[in-house]
Amino acid sequence: MEMSQPYLYVRPVTSADRDAAAALLGRGMADNPVHLMAYGGDDRSRAHRHAQLMRALLRSSPSLQIEGVDRGEALAGVAAWAPPGRCRPSATTRLRLLGRASTFGLGTASRLLSWNRRWAGHDPDEPHVHLGPVAVDRHLRGQGIGSLLLLRHAQRLDAAGAEGYLETDRPEAVGFYERFGYAVVDEADVLGVPSWFMRRPAA
Ligand SMILES: CC(C)(COP(=O)(O)OP(=O)(O)OC[C@H]1O[C@@H](n2cnc3c(N)ncnc32)[C@H](O)[C@@H]1OP(=O)(O)O)[C@@H](O)C(=O)NCCC(=O)NCCS
Repeated sequence: MEMSQPYLYVRPVTSADRDAAAALLGRGMADNPVHLMAYGGDDRSRAHRHAQLMRALLRSSPSLQIEGVDRGEALAGVAAWAPPGRCRPSATTRLRLLGRASTFGLGTASRLLSWNRRWAGHDPDEPHVHLGPVAVDRHLRGQGIGSLLLLRHAQRLDAAGAEGYLETDRPEAVGFYERFGYAVVDEADVLGVPSWFMRRPAA
């Protein structure tokens, strides 16, 4: 019997499914190299802890834009981005994140802080649209869902004539982002694993 493919569409993530988006980001990134180093533990606890941080971030960052790919019954992928001049979380958001991170223990909290500082230290001074976090649910990777999100994002950047920027700790993701016009501008070791910093020139 032939199975029908679910219909995929991109839509804004609203407050109604923001926590579901945070949970997806937790699950979707739990096997990323820098997450392994920062959180340690098993897959489940990494997913849970990162989802908690993402929930705090998404709930307390009104300037963050969030889009998701809907598969009919649930979100399959999520991309968030900050408009120019808004990529550094506000003091309130930083405090909330720190408060949450401190419940994970001192070692984890200090690794999260150092990861965050290292990545933030690479933020371009020029106005840019800062993409991230981006994740596709693990069992759905490699099926074009991330490409749907990036295609929309690239169109948005072109329409606004804006420069794009992102960081990634996943070597396979570098080639993925290159397909959408991003190029590596810097590389650094963060928590002992490589991170790549990528820019997409304004059209
Ligand atoms: C990177 C990511 C968003 C891509 O989304 P996707 O839906 O898997 O991507 P698509 O199916 O549209 O495109 C597939 C391409 O993505 C790349 N890719 C990157 N990571 C991948 C992964 N874990 N599995 C499959 N493809 C991956 C491959 O280059 C692949 O190209 P190929 O088909 O020629 O092999 C997704 O794999 C993911 O969520 N990874 C974990 C979280 C993450 O690393 N986020 C981005 C970095 S911040």
